[in-house]
Amino acid sequence: MRTPIVAGNWKMFKTIAEAKQFAEAVKQQEEVEGVEQVVCAPFTALPALAEALQGTGIALGAQNMHFEEQGAFTGEISPLMLKELGVKYVIIGHSERRQYFHETDESVNKKTRAALKHGLRPIVCVGESLEEREAGETAAVVGKQTKAALAGADTAQLADVVIAYEPIWAIGTGKSSTAADANETIAVIRRVIAEDFGEAAASVVRIQYGGSVKPDNIASFMAEPDIDGALVGGASLTADSFRGLVLGA
Ligand code: G3P
Repeated sequence: MRTPIVAGNWKMFKTIAEAKQFAEAVKQQEEVEGVEQVVCAPFTALPALAEALQGTGIALGAQNMHFEEQGAFTGEISPLMLKELGVKYVIIGHSERRQYFHETDESVNKKTRAALKHGLRPIVCVGESLEEREAGETAAVVGKQTKAALAGADTAQLADVVIAYEPIWAIGTGKSSTAADANETIAVIRRVIAEDFGEAAASVVRIQYGGSVKPDNIASFMAEPDIDGALVGGASLTADSFRGLVLGA
């Protein structure tokens, strides 16, 4: 059985003060069992959140990292630096990073392997553009991205890998994929992982859907057999909405 995982991706939102307010509000809520919860915050908010989220059951995530441990890489953050802060998850290869910051399948692979090497759990993002979808290329695109991201990983490490299937056209647009379509693509992702790592390893990888997930539609995604959770942007920003997502998962 795969434990469902709901992760908030705050993107470039929230000051330290705002992040602390979120944590304070979460502390007023009752704990929810059976769903793993993660908040992926901007780097600047991570130290304060590490402290503020203690005892809440919400794990800390980052939104990116460099694959090197240290060195002359101005502006970058290393896996060791994230570990030191108590970060458990790190989003790798979000489509916004692929689109605006020139992330490639190769850098996504290096970062995924670096995360695993340092005991961080990567949330690896894959997804097709609208153009690719309309051309009938969804399965080929996400299959290739998934294979590239995981190339060279150890089979034993796959239990720590989370894949987030985020169709680019559904991100922040209010247009979510249908649950059945998302499940179909996620099943393709699982099949591709099985080809490279075997059925047993593929069956433990958690695969999330992301793209305009809200408290009122998350249950329809979670009802699908291959969908193990959600990676959520906009609807993860308030404690109430985040809780709604977790309760619906
Ligand atoms: O990583 C989450 C994301 O890209 C989806 O964003 O705002 O559509 O939930 P949103």
